[in-house]
Amino acid sequence: MTDELHNLRVNSDRMLDAFNELSQIGATGAALTGEAVSKRDGGVNRPTFSEAHLAARQWFREQIEKAGLEFRTDGAGNHSAVLASAGRVGGGFRYAENATQPSPPYRDQTLLLGSHLDSVPNGGRFDGALGVMAALEVLRTIKDAGLRPRLNLEAIDFTDEEGTLVGLLGSSALAGHLRHEILQNPRGGREALLEGMERASLSDESMLSAARSKDSLAGYLELHIEQGKRLERAGIDIGIVSAIVGIWSYRLSFLGRADHAGTTTMDERRDASLGASAFTLSAREIVMNDFPNCVLNIGDMEFTPGAFNIVAARVDVSLEFRSPDEEEFQRLAVSLLERAKQEARRFGLELRAESLGRHSPSLMSEKIQHALADACNNLGLSHVPLISGAGHDGQSLADICPVGMIFVPSVDGASHSPREYTEWEDCVNGANVLLQAALMLGM
Ligand code: HGY
Ligand code: MN
Ligand code: MN
Repeated sequence: MTDELHNLRVNSDRMLDAFNELSQIGATGAALTGEAVSKRDGGVNRPTFSEAHLAARQWFREQIEKAGLEFRTDGAGNHSAVLASAGRVGGGFRYAENATQPSPPYRDQTLLLGSHLDSVPNGGRFDGALGVMAALEVLRTIKDAGLRPRLNLEAIDFTDEEGTLVGLLGSSALAGHLRHEILQNPRGGREALLEGMERASLSDESMLSAARSKDSLAGYLELHIEQGKRLERAGIDIGIVSAIVGIWSYRLSFLGRADHAGTTTMDERRDASLGASAFTLSAREIVMNDFPNCVLNIGDMEFTPGAFNIVAARVDVSLEFRSPDEEEFQRLAVSLLERAKQEARRFGLELRAESLGRHSPSLMSEKIQHALADACNNLGLSHVPLISGAGHDGQSLADICPVGMIFVPSVDGASHSPREYTEWEDCVNGANVLLQAALMLGM
């Protein structure tokens, strides 16, 4: 790359202004008062297709148009800024300095950069939002420098990354992995999905129409907060993601019998809460003792009928577990479902288990990891390879194009909470790594 490109940097103030404006949309806590990003407490509540999320998408579109970039959207509701390619065939900057062959002739392939504007309920303001703002800033910086990329550069906001409705919805749709049956039984419930799509003027059909051809994508880069403590503990600037864990979701229903809470003797009860609680504790033991590379979470239990004075007839348990290894997933799933059956039997309950979605673990592109490491070295930033314990849109795309992810430190590892915070200097470091990698791969 030329010195001009090596020395290009994002506009930190412009990115900070955009980030702070975005943080006001669906703001919770201190962010409500417009406090600058330096304030630690203050998250956002922007679940997919909520009013706040729709407002954030509209705001993003306005930023794109103000920046003189092309706005694009698709049937999955993904929103993008595009800096179109110079339309050149062949040539262009070679990625590896010592490459013997010029890069193969591309014509209008697209390098995607991005993340997601939706949040978990009462989440943090950096998760996803930082990646979208950095991607937009990268395109603006390249455009302002009067450069015409060899590839189309596209800064994308993927729909429903967090799984309020489906999970990795926009990226799965774009990658062509979305199936009709996934939309019929999503982890957020079919009703919620229909209402959400209605609010965003989308449909099952439009979702399924969003698939792009494999060879139209040259790659995908994402900047994201680490959401863990490893970078902070090690005092390292940048994490270069080597792999992303897979995520499997189940709804387990423990079915007992409603009875009077006062007159039914303890031994006569078929109390669904006992099966659900016993399973929760024993599932944790299974993972900690036998699956040290995996994690498991029960983030919600729904009691039916759900009253102080009725023995619980039914408890629906929202179960999610994660592994970096496909084979381990299978073994863990068998072990957990077996244990759920045992706990149900123990308390005279019936068990129903429903799979609500499986995202496979995925490896990141070696080529892009090298580009990211080169970018860090050019920028004088320390870096380390990391496996991502969080799911990301990149895992939807990893089987159709090269994918790379950049992590920046999370203060105290906090995320999915208003405590989520990353120092702005670290955010700018990440954005400059994203810029430099985009220049290496896309110019
Ligand atoms: O749940 C996750 O790992 C991600 O934040 N969607
Ligand atoms: Mn995220
Ligand atoms: Mn998240």
